[in-house]
Amino acid sequence: MNIAFFDAKDYDRPSFDKFCTRYGIGIKYYETKLGADTADLASGCEGVCAFVNDDLSAPVVEKLYALGVRVIALRCAGYNNVDLSACFGKVHVLRVPAYSPYAVAEHTMALLLTSVRRIHKAYNRTREFNFSLSGLTGFDLHGKTAGVIGTGKIGKVFIEICRGFGMHVIAYDKYPAEDCGIEYVSLNELFSRSDVISLHCPLSEETFHIIDGNAIDRCKKGVILLNTSRGALIDAEALLAGIKARKVGAACLDVYEEESDLFFRDFSGHIVEDDTLARLISMPNVIVTSHQAFLTEEALENIAETTVKNLDAFRSGAPLENELCYHCGSVEDCRKKRKERCF
Ligand code: NAI
Repeated sequence: MNIAFFDAKDYDRPSFDKFCTRYGIGIKYYETKLGADTADLASGCEGVCAFVNDDLSAPVVEKLYALGVRVIALRCAGYNNVDLSACFGKVHVLRVPAYSPYAVAEHTMALLLTSVRRIHKAYNRTREFNFSLSGLTGFDLHGKTAGVIGTGKIGKVFIEICRGFGMHVIAYDKYPAEDCGIEYVSLNELFSRSDVISLHCPLSEETFHIIDGNAIDRCKKGVILLNTSRGALIDAEALLAGIKARKVGAACLDVYEEESDLFFRDFSGHIVEDDTLARLISMPNVIVTSHQAFLTEEALENIAETTVKNLDAFRSGAPLENELCYHCGSVEDCRKKRKERCF
């Protein structure tokens, strides 16, 4: 079995080489992202391995199918970039539902602490032997209220971390977890009570711009917004307006709505055309990391292992535990439940 691996980075290769060798799967690495113009690179491959900013819209899926691709192995949890209905009946889509919720939750807290205690500014100052503390006053997290939107694997770990800091936690989830000791409130109440708001829900039509101008209006003055989930959960223009109006106290973003042409690459010698991002980065109370929250040794190892095991299960006809459910509409005759494969 041969796999075309798109958007390959140097940190992907050691763990994927290890597991592909172990399972006898051939892998061709391509640095380019998957899209209509690059899909042909998958010629001769039964599968493609894709990441968060690869384009798996209907035309790309059709092209891959025509080339003989029968499996898409996502090496990530989110799948908002995949047209699942275009895949149904043609190409199986497998993902890595969990690889390290700790990696993302810990990065979220790292961003919060960096922002609140001005660590990024202090680091720059002391490197130049500037030991002034002026302008570095932070505040205690202890006793503050964290509002968590999305209480799945990552959200739950982040809640535990916040509790460890003595924060009070409230949460909103469309499907609240039962008997987990989490205080669920409405979205409105979460906006009005939280000192810190952290997004841990998937991106969908429902959650698109869940933080927009209207939501920001309902927040406390000085609210800190954390987004390590997906960029389009926040309306970036509305965020900028909220920051300029001094309503938003700080924003920590590991993801950005228009990240796909920028993140994961070095533009330090270039003029970046995205004025919204440039303006956000120029703000003293905004911290941006480039979709880095997942990037720990443990997560990379788990991602490679699960992705390669998913491909091995596909190849051997075994049940596809991590296949994405297409919601074919058939509740009684759900093939995934019966055959453990969608089709
Ligand atoms: P999960 O599936 O375990 O949890 C998602 C939670 O969101 C669930 O509890 C679900 O009920 C809730 N939810 C669904 N629709 C909702 C809605 N309309 N409103 C409020 N809540 C809703 O997912 P997990 O593993 O916790 O990941 C969360 C997100 O984190 C992923 O969707 C992905 O976008 C992002 N992520 C980001 C990474 C990074 O490197 N920055 C790495 C991994 C994931």
